[in-house]
Amino acid sequence: MRLSQQLTQQHRDCDAQYSQSEAAVAKEVWQEAKERFADFSDKTLQHFHYEEQHLFPAFEAATGITEGPTKVMRYEHEQIHKLIDKMKEALEQEDKEVFLSLGESMMILLQQHNMKEEQMLYRMCEMQLPRESYEAVLKVLEQGA
Ligand SMILES: [Fe+2]
Ligand SMILES: [Fe+2]
Repeated sequence: MRLSQQLTQQHRDCDAQYSQSEAAVAKEVWQEAKERFADFSDKTLQHFHYEEQHLFPAFEAATGITEGPTKVMRYEHEQIHKLIDKMKEALEQEDKEVFLSLGESMMILLQQHNMKEEQMLYRMCEMQLPRESYEAVLKVLEQGA
């Protein structure tokens, strides 16, 4: 599978995990909600880490553009990460209202972010990365980084 397809699939997997945690919170099944949200958070932060440590640097090296899309994506990761941390606190306190309201904001940000990557950045990476660099980032992804 191509790089963009695999990363897009990771976005979808994270969405599905979030829906499960949201459903558990709505039903106030707290133990399950905590486990599902931890899965979502781990997967999402691991995906951000891969992009920041491997994909974005490869794009920056290939294009010389460090103040462009990758800068915006890193900033958005930070915003989403902060909301995830706040949601963890709400979950610890078993505060359904706060969790669901933060979750709405977080998902809007995450969906907009993912769309920009899928429609623009991942495609640019596939076009711009030299073959060797493309193969290298793909390999790291497939090894589960
Ligand atoms: Fe991202
Ligand atoms: Fe992403």
